Amino acid sequence: MDLIIKNGKVVTASKTYRADVGIRGGKVVAIGKNLRSKKGAQVIDARGKYVIPGAIDPHVHCDLPFCGTVSANFFEETASAATGGITTVIDFAIQTKGKSLKEAIRSRKKIADPQVAIDYSLHVGITDWKNKRTQKELPEVIKGGIPSFKMFMIYRGQGWMSDDADLYEALGLARRYGGRIGVHAENVYVTETLTAKYLKEKKFATYNHALTRPNFTEGEAIQRAITLAEAADGSLYIVHMSTKEGLEAVRAGKKKGIDVYAETCPQYLFLTDDLFKKKNGHWYATCPPIRKRADCRALWEGLEEGTIPNMGTDTCTFNTKQKSLYRGVFARIPFGMPGLETFLPMMYTAVMKRGWRVNDLVAVTSTNSAKIFGLYPKKGTIAIGSDADIVVFDPKKRVTISPKRLQSTCDWNPYTGQKLVGYPMVTISRGKVIAKNGKFIGERGRGRFVPRKAYGHI
Ligand code: URP
Ligand code: ZN
Ligand code: ZN
Repeated sequence: MDLIIKNGKVVTASKTYRADVGIRGGKVVAIGKNLRSKKGAQVIDARGKYVIPGAIDPHVHCDLPFCGTVSANFFEETASAATGGITTVIDFAIQTKGKSLKEAIRSRKKIADPQVAIDYSLHVGITDWKNKRTQKELPEVIKGGIPSFKMFMIYRGQGWMSDDADLYEALGLARRYGGRIGVHAENVYVTETLTAKYLKEKKFATYNHALTRPNFTEGEAIQRAITLAEAADGSLYIVHMSTKEGLEAVRAGKKKGIDVYAETCPQYLFLTDDLFKKKNGHWYATCPPIRKRADCRALWEGLEEGTIPNMGTDTCTFNTKQKSLYRGVFARIPFGMPGLETFLPMMYTAVMKRGWRVNDLVAVTSTNSAKIFGLYPKKGTIAIGSDADIVVFDPKKRVTISPKRLQSTCDWNPYTGQKLVGYPMVTISRGKVIAKNGKFIGERGRGRFVPRKAYGHI
């Protein structure tokens, strides 16, 4: 063995037990008591620590040209992710209208491959369904290891929007090959009309970001997508769900037996829209917007009852200089926030207060995403033969979040000042220690693209 993690408490989504974990060639090769190894093997003493599967973030946007600027790059973001205990991310290869899905994948890989510090995969963003080439390519893309897609019910101006017929057809076709359609669900007609009206009335302040995207615009769009999934017998995934109305629609859809999954993100559990009225409120603008306390409460319930089985961060990092491009007008804010590095420790601190078992945290931050997105059991668990993507987590470590102390290069953080109890001590990616005590010590470009299996389900 090249590396042994000794004396820790191994936690998977279903079990907790004391054992050493032995790693060779990037894989877990032994789990047991008193593992011994040849001289020269690295040993990590995990006494008093949890040994958990690395977190998986199925929703990130690195190097994304968006809202007139470009989000933080793959290296900065994956190094920051690793430091916070994330070992796999899934980014988006978004099709350019008139061009092919495969071309989107090729050009995304070209940007990601030399930079990524951890393993990654891609969803394909479909923006041109009516293009016959798109429909021909979809089964080939699934067979090639990308069985998940994102379609946007908004972002008409960005050239990304799909209409309901596109969505209906894509749900039906993807299903035949074991693929799943993710949707960004907001009602485009209402959000665009309200935005135009507010701008005309010279209501420019940041809080209008929330007023022009009221809860029902997400709830209605989620309901519509579920109706289309039912009609098409498709498999649907709601990305970044933010409202209690959306949750109710998903809950009802699941009860009817419709194949619908929904993720939520930390910002919808921890932040509320009163931030938009404060100094630098525009930093917190993302789509869909952060909501009210009642929505946060409902989403926590959704997680705890299993209606929401997993989480992503929807990280799309813009620094304060980029955010200032809004020049006082809410509709011009680069939408998105940093979230990778704080995901696991923020969730740990919160769920301990709520009385969760660590197993449930592992399920929501790692195992369930691995299962839904066809990465399991290569990723998302600690088992013989699995990739050694492991976090040694110190449940006692106290950290106060501050952008200066984070690995992230972003000069602000939405959770600044939050006091955490519990933080990753060591992050291991395919058998190599890549982050230690809040510092990234891995290599640029060591991460690999991971092809995924179709028909992923929990
Ligand atoms: O505001 C956001 N969420 N930016 C990233 C793009 C998206 O819609 O996920
Ligand atoms: Zn989105
Ligand atoms: Zn997103």
